[in-house]
Amino acid sequence: RMKNIVVVGSLNQDISISVRRLPVEGETVLARAVRKGIGGKGANQAIAASRLGGEVSMIGFVGNDSAGNEMLEAVKGGGVDCSGIGISDRERTGKAYITVDDAGRNTIVVDSGANSCVTPEFLETLLHDRIDANTIVLMQMEIPRESLLYGIEYAKKRNAFVILNPAPAAKLPREVYSGIDILTPNETELAILSSAAGKDIAAMSTDLVKNGTACVVVTLGAEGAGIILNGTGVRRVQAPSVNAVDTTGAGDCFNGALAAALAQGYRLDDAVLFAVRAASFSVSSFGTITSYPDESQMEMTFGGNA
Ligand code: RIB
Ligand code: NA
Repeated sequence: RMKNIVVVGSLNQDISISVRRLPVEGETVLARAVRKGIGGKGANQAIAASRLGGEVSMIGFVGNDSAGNEMLEAVKGGGVDCSGIGISDRERTGKAYITVDDAGRNTIVVDSGANSCVTPEFLETLLHDRIDANTIVLMQMEIPRESLLYGIEYAKKRNAFVILNPAPAAKLPREVYSGIDILTPNETELAILSSAAGKDIAAMSTDLVKNGTACVVVTLGAEGAGIILNGTGVRRVQAPSVNAVDTTGAGDCFNGALAAALAQGYRLDDAVLFAVRAASFSVSSFGTITSYPDESQMEMTFGGNA
């Protein structure tokens, strides 16, 4: 039976500013275009997973404002169960200020707003009603720290499968690692988490596997991904080459696709390949969710065994 996916995470309105090149410290540059979009790592990952065949519900918070309404509509429209999304009268919907240059590189500053309302108390009954041993719980780090730790611990108690995308990265307490089945940092995030920072990917990941995480999947941008299990070294998964237009949210697409593939019973290596391909697809056009593939696009682009 297919596993269900529960995403506990952020919803943000994205303000994306296109520039020729990113400003350096103290510099002013002019915008070429400014667009509003749907974002937040949680919402992006939930929508990515749902488009790729996952049965997804999301837990999070928006504000009682027009941005919040737009977010809810978009997440629902993406096929995600939104009954676990709260609406705050006190806090405004989270906002992300994103700058994207001509090479598709970006910088992001997040104003958390209503995402701060995702407290352990808020999570308690919602998690209880949605998580069992047949659930994949997918989390990121744009909600309060204590709620992240609570969610992981709760999921582990219920024998659910936990994927943590440690973004934006910050050091985690050692005890958390044994509750994580797959940790999905990029190289920068891996260096922040690992106490073997500065060493190679294998050494940095092995450090985290020793803390108790079953598996580290490092995303490597155009180079694809690396899989590190206990004592295996790095198994590399290659990405197809694409023309990068906008890499914003590519990591989210990767995580959503990974969860969707695992939920449908893919083996780990096949699920990672599927996720690498989905993320590559997403960087070749502008925006986050607007660029995510659905199942038929995956099949058309990568063939029947995508
Ligand atoms: O990962 C991309 C996302 O990060 C954006 O959608 C933005 O909202 C921030 O959360
Ligand atoms: Na994109």
